[in-house]
Amino acid sequence: MTCEPVRIGIVGLGRAFMLTLPALRIDKRIQLVAACAPRPESRTAFQTEFGGRTYDNITDICEDENVEVLYIATPHQFHAEHVIAAAESGKHILVDKPLAISMKDGEEMVVACERSNVHLIVGPSHSFDVPVAQARTLIDSGELGAVRMINALNYTDFLYRPRRPEELKTNEGGGVIFSQAVHQIDIVRLLAGGMGKQVSAMTGNWDSARPTEGAYSALVGFANGVFASITYSGYAHFDSDEWMDSVNELGHDKIPESYGGARRTLKSVKSSQAETELKQTRAFGGDSIILAPTHHEHFGPIIVSCELGDIRLTPDGIWVYKNEERRFEPAPAVPNPRTPVIDALVNAVRNNKPPIQTGRWGLASLEICHAILASAADAESISLHKQISI
Ligand SMILES: NC(=O)c1ccc[n+]([C@@H]2O[C@H](COP(=O)([O-])OP(=O)(O)OC[C@H]3O[C@@H](n4cnc5c(N)ncnc54)[C@H](O)[C@@H]3O)[C@@H](O)[C@H]2O)c1
Repeated sequence: MTCEPVRIGIVGLGRAFMLTLPALRIDKRIQLVAACAPRPESRTAFQTEFGGRTYDNITDICEDENVEVLYIATPHQFHAEHVIAAAESGKHILVDKPLAISMKDGEEMVVACERSNVHLIVGPSHSFDVPVAQARTLIDSGELGAVRMINALNYTDFLYRPRRPEELKTNEGGGVIFSQAVHQIDIVRLLAGGMGKQVSAMTGNWDSARPTEGAYSALVGFANGVFASITYSGYAHFDSDEWMDSVNELGHDKIPESYGGARRTLKSVKSSQAETELKQTRAFGGDSIILAPTHHEHFGPIIVSCELGDIRLTPDGIWVYKNEERRFEPAPAVPNPRTPVIDALVNAVRNNKPPIQTGRWGLASLEICHAILASAADAESISLHKQISI
């Protein structure tokens, strides 16, 4: 059944928008009708490609009656202000992860959306990846019995990609916990059923030039007895894409010569201002081009152990390991790896059927981010109180 394209306004034309843009560009179920960004270059680039109206402030785009949905892709610290403004103007909202930095902001955002009766979806996150959905469907089929344990790890160059100054300050939402753990948390919650119970974690802050968490290991216990181990290093040494068929996070084949590239590029940067400017070259209207991916996106190796077998996620599907046989189930093809996020958005706005990754879901995942930091700081296990099930 065809329906009117969902009219979307974009708030923040930076890196996150660039990564989602290939999926947005080709999807006839949506139309990009407006954008809000402080930099004139980005606004001009938007008008050149999409037409529509552009704004330099959140209030004006919220008043644009042609906009049905706002995709908030601004830095974490603006999510609360922008989501609440959008909700109060009656717009449905897709906000990039994490929902917010503080739990207080996150709660206020969720309440504002509930009060205005608008949908709030937190994404894209890698919990929307097609192989994750495949694993969930197999779990639901009951073939492998109940989930028992999940192991997820990811070794990347996250900390050495060009950053704004606040992205290297934990109390301003910087470091790998708010930007990266939240992906792993979303995935393991989706596969484990959602209801985290407690968290024990340690974190690593090992480079005084990038003084925020670059690594963590956390053990998340769930109310149904599942336990998940999540480990991350963003220190740009071992690259776990080697264990993902040499496919990178965005679904592209990895070029071996790119090893060490993030650190090499950063060496030429002499100040935090220059680093911010380098990051801006990767925003919309800059020189960066995102090529069409040939695989699904992924967030590193993930193994789900069930009563009767294991599931291993890959960028092209899932491996299923039973007692005496194993099989590979290819992932269904989709127009773009991020198309499931648009499916979720259209289904929420047009059919009033929200996905799992609602505002309250995002709040529960944010609670685990804070629990990782608190557990590492206090050397204690932290109980969880804001969890919801799938
Ligand atoms: N899902 C993903 O794959 C993914 C990838 C990268 C970033 N992100 C998330 O997206 C968000 C943005 O990160 P980024 O790396 O794209 O940052 P960025 O700096 O590249 O982009 C942020 C954009 O917001 C604009 N902006 C800043 N203040 C604004 C304001 N007051 N009003 C309107 N626009 C404003 C900036 O000019 C810029 O265009 C973060 O929350 C991050 O976690 C998600």
